[in-house]
Amino acid sequence: MRPAQDAAGRYAAAGAVSVAPMMDRTDAHCRYFLRLLNPGARLYTEMIVDQAILNGDPGRLLAFDPAEHPVALQLGGSDPVTLAAAARRAAAFDYDELNLNIGCPSDRVQSGRFGACLMAEPQRVADCVAAMAAETTTPVTVKTRIGIDDRDDYAFLASFVTTVAAAGCECFVVHARKAILAGLSPKENRSIPPLRVETVYRLKRDFPELTIVLNGGIGSVAEVHRHLAQVDGVMIGRKAYAEPYLLAELYAQAEDAIGPAGRCPPDRGEIVRRMADYAERQLSKGVRLHHVTRHMLGLYAGQPAARRWRRYITEHGQQAGAGPQVLIDSLGIIDAAA
Ligand SMILES: Cc1cc2nc3c(=O)[nH]c(=O)nc-3n(C[C@H](O)[C@H](O)[C@H](O)COP(=O)(O)O)c2cc1C
Repeated sequence: MRPAQDAAGRYAAAGAVSVAPMMDRTDAHCRYFLRLLNPGARLYTEMIVDQAILNGDPGRLLAFDPAEHPVALQLGGSDPVTLAAAARRAAAFDYDELNLNIGCPSDRVQSGRFGACLMAEPQRVADCVAAMAAETTTPVTVKTRIGIDDRDDYAFLASFVTTVAAAGCECFVVHARKAILAGLSPKENRSIPPLRVETVYRLKRDFPELTIVLNGGIGSVAEVHRHLAQVDGVMIGRKAYAEPYLLAELYAQAEDAIGPAGRCPPDRGEIVRRMADYAERQLSKGVRLHHVTRHMLGLYAGQPAARRWRRYITEHGQQAGAGPQVLIDSLGIIDAAA
């Protein structure tokens, strides 16, 4: 067990940056890769439904490489009893944070009555947080939206936060959009409702004792620094996946960077070589190369030969029997373009 830290301290220690939970994306292979790019950023798992942990194989669902720390497990659920039981099982895995998903608007999630629709039931969310916190010393946090449907005034959000904070939640990750529960797909719900970062800034001003992390549409080092003047942390989703080298740049330019020139961001080629070593270890456990390399496709985004490199990895990584040499050989494309 690592020493306990308050939520703000934990976010500060992570350079105040985290990578968002993303289904089918932020699995253990993805997180290992992202960790090589940024030694501090807080990484979130995909959402795992409490029942899956209770009925499935917790080892397969919850295991992660110690190199991934600091890492947060995101849970989905709406029943304090089952969430508490899932939190108890997760305690054995030494996550740095348990995060409850109150932000996801998908139909599948609504039908189980969890995700964003739970913003309408703050007391239930509070009961879930309290029940989870009673089972573990790991901090319990909540990821939410600024509102749902026509309940999108600031008073609604402030009241939700007040109720849930009273149950012991000290850290809220807020996607600065409301969720429209009927009529928009999850994807549309990530772009159509307008971003209202001012609402999240105001939340921080009104609840200075809470750790408030802003999420939604963040895509550059400059934006991160601008937001960090107003909130305790930023969470980056799509941009961190599509252009992961942003994380390396953020680490190099973090406020605590060593010396006036900051840190040197890691070399992309070195990241590829380290991922080849990782892939070799994974292949020996029966993992297919593609499951590792599919998360790396954005590594050279914006660089010469990025498209050719991506195509090479995509085509060769999927072939039967593909091994880590595919990654090593891919560097020839980069060298030739240099
Ligand atoms: C493919 C994908 C899967 C996602 N899965 C989850 C999830 O499991 N849990 C969650 O809370 N949010 C999920 N989200 C939402 C992100 O965590 C984040 O809130 C959203 O993408 C806005 O941040 P961004 O603009 O930086 O991408 C997902 C987003 C994407 C693109």
